[in-house]
Amino acid sequence: MAPRDDLGRQSHPAVAAAVAALTPSTEALRDLVRAFRSAMAAGLAGRPSSLKMLPTFVEQPRGDESGRVIVVDWGGTNGRVSVIELGGGDARMVAEDDFAFRESDRTGSAERVFDVIAGAVERVVRGESGPLPLGLVYSFPARLERVDRALALSLTKGWRTVGLEGHDVAELLRVALGRRGLGRVTVAAVANDTVAALILQSYRIRGHAAVATPAEVGLILGTGTNQAADLPGAGIRNHESGNFDGVEAVAAPWDRALDRELADPAPGAQRFEKMAAGGYLGEILRRAIVDLGRSTPLFRWAGSATDTPWSLDTVRLSGVAADESEDRSGTDEILRALGVISTLEERLAVRELARAVGGRAARLVAAALLGTLTFIDPELDSEHTVAVDGGVYGGYPGFAERVRDGLRELARAQRAGRVHLAYVKDSTSAGAAVIAAVAARRQA
Ligand code: BGC
Repeated sequence: MAPRDDLGRQSHPAVAAAVAALTPSTEALRDLVRAFRSAMAAGLAGRPSSLKMLPTFVEQPRGDESGRVIVVDWGGTNGRVSVIELGGGDARMVAEDDFAFRESDRTGSAERVFDVIAGAVERVVRGESGPLPLGLVYSFPARLERVDRALALSLTKGWRTVGLEGHDVAELLRVALGRRGLGRVTVAAVANDTVAALILQSYRIRGHAAVATPAEVGLILGTGTNQAADLPGAGIRNHESGNFDGVEAVAAPWDRALDRELADPAPGAQRFEKMAAGGYLGEILRRAIVDLGRSTPLFRWAGSATDTPWSLDTVRLSGVAADESEDRSGTDEILRALGVISTLEERLAVRELARAVGGRAARLVAAALLGTLTFIDPELDSEHTVAVDGGVYGGYPGFAERVRDGLRELARAQRAGRVHLAYVKDSTSAGAAVIAAVAARRQA
């Protein structure tokens, strides 16, 4: 049956072809699950693999961790320092201070980055007395040697900070805190945001029932994407799954062009992330629109902002995908902001494409998740909790349901039903506080 737009009208053949290119077959996704599992095994064995499977030195919490912890959350342009009070499986934010980087800081010095962070820590600890453990959420790739020693690997999400790669981010922060006379703040742990999500969910579970099975996977789906998992015999590992390269087989022409033309992350790097995460979904849609504008009577929008790379961000893509209004007036508004006056047919077509890009991201995430879960439990015989956070997961309409659909598509329904997706909104700082409390207890 020929594809139809959501008013039931037959799609323009070129739009239908683009949607098809953005819709991997079930079989191709099953191959992806297998490839993901093999890449995990290779990464863990130290063989060449696009999955680094980095050790985290983080242990599951007992649920009884308590006290005040400072947390720095840095994983992009905006960051946050918080004071978190832990107790009884609950993490409560008592104070916070946001900080923001300038565009130029992305390529500036590590010293400048940590100076901005230390400045925010200084503002937040003003009212606090006594020694304070600090957890640093570093949501970029890092090779940990201890829970409080993390050597930065090459950065993602468009960052190229000078003097960071190969250096210990905990030590850089210690030095910056020292410059401000903040020696009573101890950098106790460095953790990735995926690990923070996992640990927060475990803390909540065990805060209520100490013997309960903790969360096993942490998944972030925001500007970037990544998974961490508690693997039998290997402990909690940071997959850096945004770098998984098994997606090449299901890539559409726009994914390949984006990967080729983007300098940072370099071509070939972060392939999974470039097809599934918020930093890229809008741009994939924009590229598809521009291409169709050249070959069809639709989208003759040359001269508008849609010519400009990255002008269509994922928040706009989500807005289009969510637009159920008659006449698609929400989409009209979004396009007008880009300098485009559209027809209803064009708006419906943009919506089809937006939903294809967003739906594909959810199915890719489901496949990668099943890769991890079947690595842990091949037949999915047991129940598993996945802690999920991130702007796309929370912001794209029905994303969680789409991931669940994907799990049902790729695993038998009964097995998929054993996978519990727990949305842990704003988990990063709270989770890192638990990680720092566990580490501080061990170091004491
Ligand atoms: C980073 C990961 C991070 C993920 C989600 C990726 O780009 O490499 O370390 O967990 O984004 O923030």
